[in-house]
Amino acid sequence: MIEHPVDAVVTLLAGVRRVAVLTGAGISAESGVPTFRGQDGLWKQYRAESLATPEAFERDPALVWEWYDWRRGLIAPVEPNAGHRVLAGWEALFGDFAVITQNVDGLHAKAGSRNLVELHGNIWKLRCTKEGTVEEVRETPLRRLPPVCPSCGSLRRPHIVWFGEALDPDVLDRAAAISRSCQVMFVLGTSGIVQPAASLPFAAARAGAKIVEVNIEPTPLTPQADHFLPGKAGDVLSDLDRRLRERMAA
Ligand code: OAD
Repeated sequence: MIEHPVDAVVTLLAGVRRVAVLTGAGISAESGVPTFRGQDGLWKQYRAESLATPEAFERDPALVWEWYDWRRGLIAPVEPNAGHRVLAGWEALFGDFAVITQNVDGLHAKAGSRNLVELHGNIWKLRCTKEGTVEEVRETPLRRLPPVCPSCGSLRRPHIVWFGEALDPDVLDRAAAISRSCQVMFVLGTSGIVQPAASLPFAAARAGAKIVEVNIEPTPLTPQADHFLPGKAGDVLSDLDRRLRERMAA
């Protein structure tokens, strides 16, 4: 009998305790958050890549903030979907479970994930460009664009990693350590082209982990995956979760 591809992953999961997940914009798509690289990724005539840069902020901080304020407004009423919820529930299922996300929308935390690495920052946090202090500000639209630091009056920027900027080394170290020590790494809803995030599954595979990819279409990471589960992250994870819990109860 040929094993269903989802059952092969269930069998894999039933025998491990250290599981890591790398997520991208695709996991939030079912919540209604636009991804970066589809038609939905456009704002006015701008592409994300031309606004999420230090140069764009230096040139026109108000424009860049207008875009972020628009995105904050889109995300504010959005709820986590089944995919986020399954991952939050898996923290109690595996001895060692972590989510590494490229998303800045905060939906994994909202769903209840606690062992979470936000590689690219968080759209709800503002950072003073002079003092480096970070504060969570939920208000949207922001009262003043561009916002300024309440203590020193300097411009505040989104606490987000922009194109051309390095990731926080502590955050990257944590993600790399999780990748090297997991036995299974899921790669969910990411185009797998933005570094260094895209290199984490390779680090995991080199250290012996099995790679399971979930995406609506193949990506440059697919040839590296031991299992590719096509479909929407929420649907695939819900199915996987149900079969895994049935297997554990049997
Ligand atoms: P992308 O927009 O590049 O890719 C989204 C991926 O999700 C694609 O591979 C889609 O096929 C897939 N996808 C879409 N809907 C899906 C669904 N319902 N279920 C499963 N997969 C789905 O987004 P990212 O890979 O996250 O960086 O982009 C990486 C980084 O580039 C982002 O974190 C951001 C961006 O520039 C920064 O802001 C620093």
